[in-house]
Amino acid sequence: MELSGKVSVVTGGVQGIGRAIALRLAELGSDVAVMDLKEEGSAELLSEMRALRRKPFFARADVSLSSDVDAAAEEIIGLFGRVDVLVNNAGITRDALLMRMDEKSWDSVISVNLKGTFNCTRAFLRGMIKRRSGRIINVSSVVGIMGNAGQSNYAASKAGVIGFTKSVAKEVASRGITVNAIAPGFIDTEMTRVIPEEARKSFLLSIPAGRAGAAEDVANVVAFLASDGASYITGQTIHVDGGMLM
Ligand SMILES: NC(=O)c1ccc[n+]([C@@H]2O[C@H](COP(=O)([O-])OP(=O)(O)OC[C@H]3O[C@@H](n4cnc5c(N)ncnc54)[C@H](O)[C@@H]3O)[C@@H](O)[C@H]2O)c1
Repeated sequence: MELSGKVSVVTGGVQGIGRAIALRLAELGSDVAVMDLKEEGSAELLSEMRALRRKPFFARADVSLSSDVDAAAEEIIGLFGRVDVLVNNAGITRDALLMRMDEKSWDSVISVNLKGTFNCTRAFLRGMIKRRSGRIINVSSVVGIMGNAGQSNYAASKAGVIGFTKSVAKEVASRGITVNAIAPGFIDTEMTRVIPEEARKSFLLSIPAGRAGAAEDVANVVAFLASDGASYITGQTIHVDGGMLM
């Protein structure tokens, strides 16, 4: 797999799965711009990418705000000239049973996970269409397919990402652009470290592979979807879950 000469954007790339994706793409030769709300940790990430002899960039942006995303996209395109690969990875949870879920928890999860994916895709798609080439990879979740008590907002946002992926894939397939989703299962990151021990144990029991996934397990699949070898795969949702959902 080779990504030299490519320019990639990874949203939510400062920590967790996004960080592993940014580093994997850089290892394979891509220059990488990371877009994140959180700046802490970005300097270390950028220096790791520089050590790989890549040109990295950090743009502070809240993906749920189209004004932030458009400004960051302008800066990134100004600096690199184009974007070949967009990874919509930024995501949040605000868990509660539906009867206890407030409007703010619903709105914030839909705004970041689903509208953020729309905002970023719209900002970078025009250039891809003009060049008749591009890769868009959206990070969904097994929860978007199977549902999960206490995560109706998150499940709705991630199911929305899958529908969005298929629709955009159909719109741009003839322009040499692929749009795919990844549905990770239970991956060991900050997001899952806050899950109570009992719930963690029961998640682990539901994974045939018998272990939580690592961020790198997801990053490897993103790298493949970004590569030339994946040019005939579009509109798909690839499960990276140790067999949790079959
Ligand atoms: N960890 C898992 O088990 C798991 C499973 C399935 C799907 N996912 C998905 O994978 C993606 C990454 O999750 P993670 O586990 O690495 O989470 P994480 O919380 O460790 O990292 C999320 C990153 O997104 C950034 N972010 C949050 N809101 C943002 C916003 N409004 N604008 C820009 N950046 C923002 C955060 O600052 C952070 O760097 C998410 O979309 C998540 O839903 C995770």
